[in-house]
Amino acid sequence: PNPVYATEIRRYGTAAIEAGARLIREGQPVAVPTETVYGLAADATSGEAVARIYEAKGRPSFNPLIVHVLTLADAERIAEFDETARALATRFWPGPLTLVLPLKSDGPIASIVTAGLSTIAIRSPAHPAMRDLLEAAGRPLAAPSANASGRISPTRAEHVAASLGGRIPLIIDAGPTAHGLESTIVAVAGDGLRLLRPGPLSDLGFPLAPGGTGAIEAPGQMASHYAPLKPLRLGATEAGPDEWLIGFGAIGGDSNLSPTGDLVEAAATLFDRLHEAEAADRPAIAVAPVPEGGLGTAINDRLRRAAAPR
Ligand code: TXA
Ligand code: MG
Repeated sequence: PNPVYATEIRRYGTAAIEAGARLIREGQPVAVPTETVYGLAADATSGEAVARIYEAKGRPSFNPLIVHVLTLADAERIAEFDETARALATRFWPGPLTLVLPLKSDGPIASIVTAGLSTIAIRSPAHPAMRDLLEAAGRPLAAPSANASGRISPTRAEHVAASLGGRIPLIIDAGPTAHGLESTIVAVAGDGLRLLRPGPLSDLGFPLAPGGTGAIEAPGQMASHYAPLKPLRLGATEAGPDEWLIGFGAIGGDSNLSPTGDLVEAAATLFDRLHEAEAADRPAIAVAPVPEGGLGTAINDRLRRAAAPR
């Protein structure tokens, strides 16, 4: 069950930022304005903190999230930049441009942030409230728009309160956002740029790759969504002879999503356990049952996709 908060709305200022940074360090999500929309920010290096974003939003599936950083130097510790990516960041950051880039191996980002993908969406926001929170928290922040699943993106603190009130501890209020529209997202790959989501910036000064012109990949519908390369069986109570069993709760397994049956921990560890099972020297994977409801619904959605024949 979702924790119930007496949601505080605090006017942007030193005290609100300090309170926000304290919550971030404790692994809680905090709503904060950016120049595009209000985001629901959490420590991107903590799987459990990021799982609490999903818990608060009631999102029935895991989408990869955008990581926010202060500077290009911070971003280069997380993602691989080529010359084009560096040129775009230099020209448009801080600002409403998100770059999808190869994830650096052994970087600090929790695997739930990228939903197990080998690429990461990253941007340096311009809004002083989000920048102050990044500075005070001293770590990269994952932040989707601060709305409950299926609701429209919030451009005012009141929108966040209407949709997430009681589900998060703090909303930092700095009035309406400047753009009111989520950031432009482009994927930077060897073959050029692809527009993944149109947004406030339309002319990037670079041509789009053939086939990518104007094409929009619907959020969460990306063909690239991580799926293990081995057959995966759901609802397993014990391992078959050739299976690596990912347990949950009392069903021990070769690894376990959460020995205590905690869904926040299970969400936080899901993609690591899947990668580990894929690398194990057994040809198939089995997963113990995970209860539906709350984060369980998102976990099961991801597991069903991983189990689907392809
Ligand atoms: O303006 C914004 O970008 C706001 C503010 C808060 O910064 N954030 C935002 O985040 O809109 P969110 O989580 O609502 O949207 C993230 C989008 C999704 O459409 C997701 O599919 C895409 O980014 N995305 C994230 N990682 C990706 C990846 N590795 N490859 C392709 N798309 C990715
Ligand atoms: Mg959104």
